[in-house]
Amino acid sequence: MKMENLGFLVISTFLLLFATLLPHSSASTIRRFHFNVEWKKVTRLCHTKQLLTVNGQYPGPTVAVHEGDTVEIKVTNRIAHNTTIHWHGLRQYRTGWADGPAYITQCPIRSKQSYTYRFKVEDQRGTLLWHAHHSWQRASVYGAFIIYPRKPYPFSGSHIQSEIPIILGEWWNNDVDLVEKEMLKTGGGPNASDAYTINGLPGPLYPCSTKDTFTATVDAGKTYILRIINAALNSELFFAVSNHTLTVVEVDAVYTKPVETKAIMIAPGQTTTLLFRTNQLSGGEFLIAATPYVTSVFPFDNSTTVGFLRYTKPEKNSEITRRRRRLTAMSSTIVDALPNMLDTKFATRFSDNIKSLGSEEYPCKVPTKIDKRVITTISLNLQNCPLNQTCGGYDGKRYFASMNNVSFVRPPISILQSYYKKQSKGVFSLDFPENPPNRFDFTGVNPVSENMNTEFGTKLFEVEFGTRLEIVFQGTSFLNVENHPLHVHGHNFFVVGRGFGNFDPEKDPKRYNLVDPPERNTYAVPTGGWAAIRINADNPGVWFIHCHLEQHTSWGLAMGFIVKDGPLPSQTLLPPPHDLPQC
Ligand code: C2O
Repeated sequence: MKMENLGFLVISTFLLLFATLLPHSSASTIRRFHFNVEWKKVTRLCHTKQLLTVNGQYPGPTVAVHEGDTVEIKVTNRIAHNTTIHWHGLRQYRTGWADGPAYITQCPIRSKQSYTYRFKVEDQRGTLLWHAHHSWQRASVYGAFIIYPRKPYPFSGSHIQSEIPIILGEWWNNDVDLVEKEMLKTGGGPNASDAYTINGLPGPLYPCSTKDTFTATVDAGKTYILRIINAALNSELFFAVSNHTLTVVEVDAVYTKPVETKAIMIAPGQTTTLLFRTNQLSGGEFLIAATPYVTSVFPFDNSTTVGFLRYTKPEKNSEITRRRRRLTAMSSTIVDALPNMLDTKFATRFSDNIKSLGSEEYPCKVPTKIDKRVITTISLNLQNCPLNQTCGGYDGKRYFASMNNVSFVRPPISILQSYYKKQSKGVFSLDFPENPPNRFDFTGVNPVSENMNTEFGTKLFEVEFGTRLEIVFQGTSFLNVENHPLHVHGHNFFVVGRGFGNFDPEKDPKRYNLVDPPERNTYAVPTGGWAAIRINADNPGVWFIHCHLEQHTSWGLAMGFIVKDGPLPSQTLLPPPHDLPQC
């Protein structure tokens, strides 16, 4: 694959595309990277602004390692604000100190300070991502995290020509920090983004963006790997390539049974690896596109980002331009594979089709029995406006979000640190309710007059090492029903069941898939429904669970759980690194 300069159509160079496979080595290696968190002047949609980046790159640099490698990433904070980086989906076995969520596993890295994240990549292979985990910095501070397997891909039969990372994101013309601050100040909903992006480029459907269009060149008759990453803050997305079928072979760095599809739904924090066959022997150019999957009633960005896949064939520039104009003019209809923005049926069918590979070599380790079940609502809330204030939410109130009616409050120092020092007082408590405090028709019609206030706290629950844990996420219709991508830190989980309406603890577990459920780190809980996940809680430490829609995390749709040390020395949390930032 190569990029071409079309002269007057300057295609932005995209360095990730040049990432080549690392040499195959059997011994585990230390891979070192240096990240500078810094501002960089970037222009999109005719708006120039200072964008928060890593090493001046947008998207940030790709971290590519092999299974079994030890990774050391020194992060230096070159801005005036605090920051942290999270390695999303990396297990962090015994190394919770390197997980990254601010005030959960570490204090933020302060201005001019550095912190080295050190962890081992074990028993995971495929596509993940890294992103900032402080305020809304991940709007632009993100990149691909690729783990190459030690063994050949299980989806053989096809020689892989090359791979194309496709990182989907959002672009704001304004400062994202202000968007968040404004939202929290007024209590109203946040402003929507101004564009969606493919590898940081919005594409020709947006103003001034023809030159900011992602293009990849492919050869006919070959198989490529597309690594799709949803790095957006607040948008679940549909993704498709016109006139081509995609084959899902891995999600969240776990192999799946191959699934052929015209399009995918990908929630923020999720990653999907696709096989892509260039079967259009007549050649030509094809659209790749992403548009939102919408279940919320809040204002949203209803636009579409497109890029191009171009088959190599010498062509005159004028021909390319003419074709591009035609394609762009037709783009809304031409990506006919792209579902309608409201297509919950498609999203559900697609998600149901994803199953663990479950082969002898890659068995599905779903717990068939459980030691503990936690049922928690995932909900938006409408809080009464404090006296003498005006609030920007519905009905003059302000928005919050909660789990089991506790809106998560970030403590002033890191939970992991205070847990390790056995000083939880004033930082967190272990009384997260393990069942919804009130029983009601969670997904039924709730009159707006009903009390939708929440409580506040930094509440976690704790389990013994090795607990086979089930968590049921129960959506509610407070304000509106909505699809919520729930993310668990430190562990993958198995999605054993899901449904619309209310979870029935008698009937629903009988229908669980305990054979080949998908193993993931982020799952989009159906709108107006529930999902049951199972976790082998075998990673000692403090682990954050939250909705990966950043606006919901800000409103408190989060909680955490603690896994105690196991009996063996190899089952304990390692001591904190010497350079761990202090609050
Ligand atoms: Cu990708 Cu806690 O986040």
